[in-house]
Amino acid sequence: MNIAVIGTGYVGLVTGTCFAEIGHNVICVDKDKSKIDNLKKGSLPIYEPGLEELVARNTKNSRLSFTADIKKAIEKSEIIFLAVGTPPEKDYKADLSAVRSVAASIGHYANSNKIVVTKSTVPVGTGDLIADIIKKNSKKPFQFSIVSNPEFLREGNAIQDFLEPDRIVVGTDDKKTGAIMKELYLPIIDDEHPFILTDLRSAEVIKYAANAFLATKISFINEIANFCQKANADISEVAKGIGLDKRIGRKFLNAGIGYGGSCFPKDVRALIQTGKEHGHSFHLLDAVEKVNDLQKEILLEKLFKIYPEITGKTISIWGLSFKPNTDDIREAPSIVLIRKLLENGAKIRAFDPISNESVKQKFPGENIHFASNPYEATEGSSALLILTEWDEFRSPDFAKIKKLMKEPHILDGRNLHHPSIASKHQINYYSIGRKDIIIS
Ligand SMILES: NC(=O)c1ccc[n+]([C@@H]2O[C@H](COP(=O)([O-])OP(=O)(O)OC[C@H]3O[C@@H](n4cnc5c(N)ncnc54)[C@H](O)[C@@H]3O)[C@@H](O)[C@H]2O)c1
Repeated sequence: MNIAVIGTGYVGLVTGTCFAEIGHNVICVDKDKSKIDNLKKGSLPIYEPGLEELVARNTKNSRLSFTADIKKAIEKSEIIFLAVGTPPEKDYKADLSAVRSVAASIGHYANSNKIVVTKSTVPVGTGDLIADIIKKNSKKPFQFSIVSNPEFLREGNAIQDFLEPDRIVVGTDDKKTGAIMKELYLPIIDDEHPFILTDLRSAEVIKYAANAFLATKISFINEIANFCQKANADISEVAKGIGLDKRIGRKFLNAGIGYGGSCFPKDVRALIQTGKEHGHSFHLLDAVEKVNDLQKEILLEKLFKIYPEITGKTISIWGLSFKPNTDDIREAPSIVLIRKLLENGAKIRAFDPISNESVKQKFPGENIHFASNPYEATEGSSALLILTEWDEFRSPDFAKIKKLMKEPHILDGRNLHHPSIASKHQINYYSIGRKDIIIS
């Protein structure tokens, strides 16, 4: 089938490339011409493991192409995916300006029947809004149907999540369109990767409900972790003990410094706002968000207990992206912590395997040294904060770290290490929801 994917960010580029990989002809569109020029040269705007090879292969076999010309892409395609950004507005509602603009373009340029599919995360009712905009802007008579096909991929694991999804959700009020969408996905549908057909509005709600549930699980375990710390219990044991219950499940029970990224924070807030518009108060989600905001600062509380005054002290940070295997720093706990450390006069030495540059651009001229390896980041430091669970932070040379640091305090925001490292290496070790081990 001939597909256009409009918006070539994390979701659009992965979606377009994977559809090409399973045999469709795909044109990826972006309004950012420099992004398109770079993609044509094989240079990707994002880091996603395995994506570069897939883009190269499918471009070479001519199933995947890139353009900034939305008119051409709309004219040539039977199915048009919207994968543009829906960032939060000031009041946290999803900003639908890019969605509206693409819908208007479809109205302007469509010359034959189209299926218009929303992959962007959009509030319930947006499918109807898109239909209205297309109708208002249509120049020639053509038929179209609207689909909601929410995306559940995880950055860092996006290709596998697309090709081997837990489920494919397709919402449409048109039966024939549902059947075409199933055919589109046929190469990846089987018993383990089922196709779920719903009405349009239910699919729109499914995406927000899924993210809100996962965010709730994270805030829940963090709340229990903070209680464990006070009650002298160990959150790792507690998480194992509850997670083995199949009704609960082990995933998303790792206590830490809160969720970040481009989806959970914005989607939880947007759902709360959409609730208000429908006269519904999400009391639970208000609490989820509050717990998460507090959790991002929990390492700072520990740091200020060690040093009531941190002006002039060097503080090391390992991990800047909101999670490993991505360069995405949107709503990352690191950003909140760096801001607070700088406000309090600390000097920062930071290292991330791929996100140093983007954080550097966010804090121009600030007192941050971006190190080229984890050890360089610890030189002369009074405390090391571990913020992201990158694999390279899992088995470091603690003896070397201790030598490099001025004072050996490790504050592990992801519970990457076992508390026994403290006595083994004569390091003071602080983590989340477990006993802090102070050696000296
Ligand atoms: N990133 C994720 O992990 C993820 C997962 C699931 C769903 N989503 C949702 O998918 C959507 C896209 O997210 P993303 O992370 O890929 O965003 P992104 O910011 O990385 O990419 C969006 C792209 O759309 C382009 N764009 C904006 N307006 C355009 C227009 N009018 N015409 C053509 N291109 C336009 C931008 O230039 C950008 O390249 C959002 O709604 C997001 O909530 C994201």
